[in-house]
Order: sequence, then structure tokens, then C-alpha cells
Amino acid sequence: MLSGDPSATAGADPFLAPEVAVVGGGPIGLAVAWRCAARGLRVVVHDPAPGSGASGVAAGMLAPVAEAYFGERELTRLLTESAGRWPEFAAELTEATGHDIGYRTEGTLMVGLTADDLAEARRLWAYQQGLGLPVTPLRPSQLREREPALAPRVRGGALAATDHQVDPRRLVPALRLAAERAGAVLVAEPVRRLSDVVAGTTVVAAGCGAAALTGLPVRPVKGQVLRLRTPDGGPPGFRHVIRGYADGEQVYLVPRENGEVVVGATVEERTDRTVTAAAVLRLLRAATDLLPELAEYDLVETIAGLRPGTPDNAPILGPLPGRPGVLAATGHHRHGIVLTPITADLVADLITGAGVAEPLLAPFRADRFRTT
Ligand code: GLY
Repeated sequence: MLSGDPSATAGADPFLAPEVAVVGGGPIGLAVAWRCAARGLRVVVHDPAPGSGASGVAAGMLAPVAEAYFGERELTRLLTESAGRWPEFAAELTEATGHDIGYRTEGTLMVGLTADDLAEARRLWAYQQGLGLPVTPLRPSQLREREPALAPRVRGGALAATDHQVDPRRLVPALRLAAERAGAVLVAEPVRRLSDVVAGTTVVAAGCGAAALTGLPVRPVKGQVLRLRTPDGGPPGFRHVIRGYADGEQVYLVPRENGEVVVGATVEERTDRTVTAAAVLRLLRAATDLLPELAEYDLVETIAGLRPGTPDNAPILGPLPGRPGVLAATGHHRHGIVLTPITADLVADLITGAGVAEPLLAPFRADRFRTT
């Protein structure tokens, strides 16, 4: 059991103190709380507004294949392992709550608009295939059989059949209910200092807020996202997640049953949450170049969020050096939703003493960075 001593804090009642306090009620924090409470631990989650961080903006792509980038092998391994847990995680969550979380398995089409776009995309697909990931090249006619709404001038593509999606705005309430049903208690009081938290183990799952709480090098990475809606409220005219290169721009299009299409996203080293005309223009141009019918959809939301990035853009998972009883579960950057199941399982394993030697965790330990 990895823990500090809750009774050591002045005024704490050791009989009432939780065994686990989770700071942050996004998907990561709530899933950690759910998994820990389900193992019989007394759990409290601190968050004045659960789900109001990056997950409220996120598209919810579960994309270990399409997001397997050069130089990120260990991260790709973690993404793949977590994506493999998603079907059971989604089924368990729906079983525990009765909620439909919008988990869909049609797969992801990766496409290139121009010859240059396709050349760039093919380089990445070759790398992904070299890792043994399931990327199936498709001829233009095969692409159009799968998605007739694609623009005729799309030059080519590939299928990542195992890259799925979930709706983060449905996921968060479901996780909250599951955690509460398992016995976790949500507390709206914000945590300003970790020393204010009274618990055997404190899990910092506060996204970008982890920097101020722990000194870990977590930085905001801005992402602007649009939401469109079909004019008649019916499902969009395409079923796969589409990730495209369009005249040098990268864009993703995520269709939901309820008529919504999420269009994303910028990746900006900025800390503000302003939506800019230039970003909206670029995203819409790329989206409509790939799928012309989107020009007829309603533009219903423009929003910006802040991803929690780290110096190597990989998450920070495990004990915080020099802080007994404190675990980090943050820095998930572009992968918070896909990494939710594995983060929750590994953190619960660490707390119960089952996961201390887990090899998957080794590359993501907090001690690879200096805290400030
Ligand atoms: N994983 C999608 C994004 O960060 O925009």
C-alpha cells in the first residue's frame, strides 16, 4: 500500500479521513475514483466543476494508431494498451450507470486531399505499419465506398479500423455517477495546496492545475475546436472519424449519432482560451475541402481548451518524488480520453500495492523531471 499517514495532519479524524483523495474531477480523476472506490477504498474527489477542463472541449477520439507519431514509441505502447481496455471499460460503465457514453467503433479514415498531403500522410502510415499497427491503405474508390460524402478530389487514404470514439461530454457524467455509486464522495471545495488535503494517498489529476499544486512541468497547450450540427438534427452524412491532411492543414471530423460533428483542432503554445477568426477559418476550410456537405451544417459552438502538456508530451504517472503519499496522474496532453482506463487501473494498482513494479509505468514516472 502506497500511502502517507492521514492521521498525521493536524485536526484530522483518522476514522473519517479518506484513504484516497483525488484532486481533479475530469475523466482521469473520476475514473481513478471509480476504480479505487470499487476496490473498497474510501475516496473523495475534489473539484468545484467536474468536467469543466480539457475534456469539455475534447472530441473523444480513441486513436492509438492515427496518433502514433514519430519518436513516441513508449507512448504509443501505452495508448494501444489503454485503447484495448476501452471496449470493456465502456461496457462496464454503461452497465454501472445505464448511460450511453457515445462509444462508437466504425473506425477512422485517414485521408490526404492533394498529392503533397498524401505523400506526408503516407510517410506516417508507413511508420505506423512498421510498428505493427493496423493501417490499411485504401484506393480512392474504396474510400468513397466507405464514405461517399468525401470530396471527389481526395487523393487517397487509409483505414485505422481499431481507432474508435467516445463522447467526453457524456463520459464525465457517467464516470461521476459510477464513482458515486461505488461510494466516492465529490467535494466542491477547490484544493489550493496539497497540504490542505487529508488522505492516505492524494492523487493529483488536475490537468494543467497540477503545475501549481506539485511543481511538475505541466504546461497548457491550447486547442480550438468547432462543433457543427446537421440542419435537420439527423445523423451526419458520414460515419467514420475522419482525420485529414488538406492543403497542409491537419483536421479531424468526429460524427455523433445526434447530428453533431466535432471539428478540431489547433495545437498552440498559448495559455489563453480565445477563439480566433483565423483558426475558425482554417478549420472550416480544411473540413469543407474534405467533406463539402459540412458547409451546409449549422456552426453551433466555437471553443478553446488547454491540454496539459509535458516536456516530452507524455503523461506523468506515479509517485511524486519527495512527497510521500502523493501520486501524479496528469500531463495527458492530446490523449486524456484514450488513456483514461489504463491510468485509472494503474493508479488503483499503485495505491493497493499491486502495481509498483508495473513495467508499463516506468517511462512515465514523475522522477524523469525536476519539480520546480
Ligand atoms: N487528440 C486530439 C487533440 O488533442 O486535438
